[in-house]
Amino acid sequence: MTTYKALMLGDVIGSAGMDYMVSVLPALIEALSADFVCLNAENASGGFGLSEADADRLLACGVDCLTSGNHIWEKKGISELLDKRQNILRPANYPSGAPGRGVWQTEKNGVLWTVLNLQGRESMRPIDSPFSCADQLLADLGITREAAMATTSLAGEAAAASATADADSVVVPAESSATSAANPTFVASGGPLPGPVLVDFHAESFEEKEALALYLAGRISVLAGTHTHIPTADERILPGGTGYLGDLGMCGPVDSVIGSDTASCLRRCVSQMPIKLEPAAGACALSGALFTIAASGHCTEIQRIRREQTVPAC
Ligand SMILES: [Fe+2]
Repeated sequence: MTTYKALMLGDVIGSAGMDYMVSVLPALIEALSADFVCLNAENASGGFGLSEADADRLLACGVDCLTSGNHIWEKKGISELLDKRQNILRPANYPSGAPGRGVWQTEKNGVLWTVLNLQGRESMRPIDSPFSCADQLLADLGITREAAMATTSLAGEAAAASATADADSVVVPAESSATSAANPTFVASGGPLPGPVLVDFHAESFEEKEALALYLAGRISVLAGTHTHIPTADERILPGGTGYLGDLGMCGPVDSVIGSDTASCLRRCVSQMPIKLEPAAGACALSGALFTIAASGHCTEIQRIRREQTVPAC
């Protein structure tokens, strides 16, 4: 059975994170046989924002698409960079008129890959709805709820599949057919997608992350969260064959507070003064997940990925 492997990596943090990623990414991509790589780069340059030079360094390592979030706007020249580079995304649900774009499609080795970047609104700035934005963008790509719910041979195969972690097919709950007709937010059995559809949902709230994943279930291959910098162990395959992971974590300094320098973060937390945070230095770890996607576009397996930098002993 033909499958594709999508490697999605959490927010890369500052120069330490950048240097580590550049040093390990090519070998990691090869070792995992990843067909497509997405990385969130909103914190790549000095901890806040993304410069063109850092974007080029990451893309030269084999990353196909850079996603982002609320901090993407913080470097001078980002508007021009987003406008000219289609594979550097900002969240799609910023109000109309924002520079750049939040969705990208590309054909790679004969496979049509789609990446959609969205941002949450709970405990974040109240930008446009990620739900209605995703509805519109997916419809523009020909992926509608109705199409996703279409009965296909895949549905029958999936319903009969076993529930092992390395199963070839997606497992669909037995009651899901009836449920899907009554409740349009619950898709029973996904019809084929035009290719893998990856969503980076940059959000604080896990309620919002799970809600959007279930809302889009069957219409996308994967929804992976970013932004908290904390990797979660909540991976699961949703009805309709959508892989979900609440947060990919971060690619940055381990001795830190979610990537920031510990001393300045402690001063800020204890004093409640608006002390500027700096990215930490030191040994790094990378965090993300490898999603196996069937030719139908549905996720069949999720493997969390973590690698730590080894520092030579003094
Ligand atoms: Fe963020």
